[in-house]
Amino acid sequence: MKKKSREWGIDYSNFNKLRYLREVDSTNDELFRLLDEEESPPQIVIGGIQTEGKGRRGRFWFSEQGGLWISLVIPGGLCERNITALNITCGLSCAKACDSFISEMGFREFNITVKWPNDIMLENKKLGGLLIEVKSSEIKDRKIVLGLGINVNQVRFNKVISDIATSLRLMFKRRFSVCNLANYIIKEMDSMIEMIRNGKIDYLFGEWKDYSYELGRSVEISTVESVKKQGKVIGIGDSGELILVNSKGDIDRIYNGYDLKIT
Ligand code: BTN
Repeated sequence: MKKKSREWGIDYSNFNKLRYLREVDSTNDELFRLLDEEESPPQIVIGGIQTEGKGRRGRFWFSEQGGLWISLVIPGGLCERNITALNITCGLSCAKACDSFISEMGFREFNITVKWPNDIMLENKKLGGLLIEVKSSEIKDRKIVLGLGINVNQVRFNKVISDIATSLRLMFKRRFSVCNLANYIIKEMDSMIEMIRNGKIDYLFGEWKDYSYELGRSVEISTVESVKKQGKVIGIGDSGELILVNSKGDIDRIYNGYDLKIT
């Protein structure tokens, strides 16, 4: 069956073509397919709904009508540091874009922050998340797709996530333009790519403290080895790792962790 889609030319340094599909399995999967199949593929795919939206750690990502489901190509050789570092800068740029979007509309009563590594938080609930996928280990033909999901106009959520998720509409009691938000995000991602390319990743890392959800707070986090670590968050390191100091004064560096909770 032919998918219903539309395409637009856009004018950014790293993005010149955007394709919109009313329904798609996953915008990340679709973008990888287009990169393989088409001679001149778009660098951005947006879906109206996703039937098989993917979250981190193999989780299902609920993606009904009303949210922003977007995937962008990140240049393969961009980041000499590891993927955790890219996760940090992408999460930060996304939080900045959402924050500018709502504050330029005059809404300043709630904070948008980023919970390590890259959950987008609105006060204490999850507004969105990012999934970076990489294909090919060879840097020269490495393909990186950044998928981003933001809850914009949904008013209810599946019961699996209803206690932890929120949307802009639920918080601000009005509808928002998904298209305008997409513009803010694309612009911020474009400028992030340019900054990394120009050797300014440390400047971006410096901004993390202004948007961090957990800096200075006591947290518990699960590591990939399924060990729970507790401590107070004192910063991030050069690779984007989260730095904790525990009650004995020992420092822990978490490179790969999940389910961070404030304790
Ligand atoms: C997370 O678990 O927090 C990451 C969620 C990422 C969801 C986005 S929606 C657009 C893109 N397509 C997908 O299938 N997933 C990402």
